[in-house]
Amino acid sequence: MKEFEEFREKFLPDISKRILELLPSSSKYTPVFNRALSYSLKTGGKRIRPLLFLAVAHSVSNKFKNRLNSLIDFSVGIEYIHNYSLVHDDIMDGDEIRRGKPTVFKKFGPDVAILVGDALLTRGMEILYDNFPYSAKVILQSVGVPGMISGQAGDIHYSGKTSENAMWWIHLNKTASFFAGISVAGILACGVFDEKFRKKFFDFGLNLGLAFQVRDDLLDRIGKKEKYKKSRTDLKNKKLTILRFYTIEEAGEIVEKLTQNALNSLKNLPVKGEILKSLLKKLSIREM
Ligand code: IPE
Ligand code: IPE
Ligand code: MG
Ligand code: MG
Ligand code: MG
Repeated sequence: MKEFEEFREKFLPDISKRILELLPSSSKYTPVFNRALSYSLKTGGKRIRPLLFLAVAHSVSNKFKNRLNSLIDFSVGIEYIHNYSLVHDDIMDGDEIRRGKPTVFKKFGPDVAILVGDALLTRGMEILYDNFPYSAKVILQSVGVPGMISGQAGDIHYSGKTSENAMWWIHLNKTASFFAGISVAGILACGVFDEKFRKKFFDFGLNLGLAFQVRDDLLDRIGKKEKYKKSRTDLKNKKLTILRFYTIEEAGEIVEKLTQNALNSLKNLPVKGEILKSLLKKLSIREM
């Protein structure tokens, strides 16, 4: 797993730096909003989506180094959009703790939190567009309707109801679609337009994203307090999670199976897959 660790150590400082530098400029007329906006990005997080984007780009292209600045900025746009989804998700789920800290709506109120989410989304879109417009379109399709927003709408609609098909549809849309979009955007940003590559990287991202959400559902139940620093409201909110249909052990096996599917998607492609492989392994056993 050390390949991904090394990759992360190399690029995380630049990502973190640009996350703050690319913030939209603030106004003296909006002091609370300004604080809430920077708070939403300073609470930390794994930054797994920007790192995934960079790792995919790295795996297909020797142009990686030449395009690095734009790739990093694009990855920051991705993280802004992810953070917007969390700020709004916490309002929807009534969650008061994220990344070990009060959620944005808890600390600043839902009205400010809605605007923080809106700002992160619109600024994120602008950053994507400024760097790789074609990849931007792919990301935006993955987080729209259909995509993440549909998944979140299904998540609300199906709380309290029971349907395994609906659960997979929700997980596919609310989480996996974004991961698939990020993976495809990563190859396009490096000039790889081949249909076969596109399809395989799409499948790769989709399986990885499903594994990620299943693991998230699992951690909501069994995650250790010191590591998994989120309030756990899935049971209270009667969410349609993997544990409504499978035991903890079975859910763990499903994560492994989906991770293996993701890995298989890249088989027989001429890519440098070591970092992606190590990222997959790391995420499948993550504790936070
Ligand atoms: C949480 O995402 C939302 C899900 C789709 C499960 P992450 O687990 O990537 O959250 P952070 O950014 O690391 O806090
Ligand atoms: C969130 O799913 C998916 C998003 C699109 C944000 P969850 O509601 O399970 O995410 P957490 O557990 O609050 O991070
Ligand atoms: Mg939530
Ligand atoms: Mg939710
Ligand atoms: Mg969750």
